[in-house]
Amino acid sequence: MIIPSAMRLQRILKRHLRSVCAFLMLLISGSLMSAERPDARVSLADRSVAETLLRLPDFNLRGRPDLIEKLDRYLRANQGTTRYFQLVRQFKLKDRSNELLAIVLSRPGTTPGTWAAETLVQFDKRELLEQTTRHADTDRAVAAVRGLASVGDADTQAYFVETLKKGVLPVETLNAIATALSDQPEGEQFLAEWVASGNLPPQLAFTVGNLLHSSEIAAHRKIATRHLPRPKTSGGNPLPPLKDLVGRSGDPEHGRTLFFSKAQCAGCHQVDREGKQIGPDLTEIGSKLSKEVLYTSILDPSAAISHNYENHEVVTVDGKIEKGILLSRDTTGTTLKDAEGIVRSFSHAEIESFRKLPLSLMPDGIEKKLTVRELIDLVQFLASLKNSR
Ligand code: HEC
Repeated sequence: MIIPSAMRLQRILKRHLRSVCAFLMLLISGSLMSAERPDARVSLADRSVAETLLRLPDFNLRGRPDLIEKLDRYLRANQGTTRYFQLVRQFKLKDRSNELLAIVLSRPGTTPGTWAAETLVQFDKRELLEQTTRHADTDRAVAAVRGLASVGDADTQAYFVETLKKGVLPVETLNAIATALSDQPEGEQFLAEWVASGNLPPQLAFTVGNLLHSSEIAAHRKIATRHLPRPKTSGGNPLPPLKDLVGRSGDPEHGRTLFFSKAQCAGCHQVDREGKQIGPDLTEIGSKLSKEVLYTSILDPSAAISHNYENHEVVTVDGKIEKGILLSRDTTGTTLKDAEGIVRSFSHAEIESFRKLPLSLMPDGIEKKLTVRELIDLVQFLASLKNSR
């Protein structure tokens, strides 16, 4: 009986001693050090203030602008580190919310990105993340979706489900939300039920199909087979789920031959200056896109349309419809380049209506022209196109 309470006493003493020492250090670093030549001492002084504050969870920073200034400098220099998050959370530095959001957006799928998202939610700033998922720049929106997904709580799930059902965001963002949902059992359950109800918007069929076809739950795979059958490839075999395709390797030389012949890719893309310049140049595409994204670009071209290659439509006053990539639109008129590479200009007087199309100029259904083997070889070729300089 005596021994434990003695130990307890010792522990209490120790804890208090730590706080007292820490407080003394804080006084020293806060006043003495700053009185010394600040130029040479700044980072050391800032660091010791930060380290000391970490040991004083109840310390009130209010009325200590000298410490706040040091802490601020320390945090700016150490953004995204463990210490940074410890301090920001401990002192509930909500005024750093925009900085946290920037960390989420610039580092999706990393530990700092996840911690930043979690901190925002702790600060009741979930709205900042949700707002960003509705941003027109899909790179930002998708990064925000990944940040929210890393929090993975019930509110996030509910927001994702509601947003998918509304369906007003760009396809790329909606696909990212569906992918994030499928990581959680309830989320996958929702997707399966949605598909079974027949209400899944067709533009999400490719992504959601891939998710459910590679589900671990047999009932979900069955729903996918029934409602979202795999498209048939040229050999008559169904297209394997994306996960399987990504895991297989092919013959890049055969893929190159296909690119310039049967697959007709060179009708719109250049590799090493060969081919037409309608879509983006693919000479170094293997450095830019992962195999998974290469497959999606080919099999679901409208899911993520590259910037500057959006498909547009002009309807002329005499009823002609022209589609193509927008080359220019200014006071003199509008110029499009169509799928054959033909450039057409229209004066404003000729144009009845002009709009951006949600569908890529790149044709879908390419899998119908190729066997599974050929598709794998083609992607192996594209993946091999790396920046060699
Ligand atoms: C009718 C023209 C056309 C054909 C044919 C075509 N593409 Fe495309 N492709 C485009 C356009 C336009 C884009 C850019 C818009 C987009 O991302 O949808 C594009 C985008 C891509 C991208 C994404 C590039 C990036 O930088 O993100 C890849 C990869 C690609 N195509 C591969 C292929 C392959 C492989 C084939 C042959 C099987 C092919 N394309 C056939 C027009 C075409």
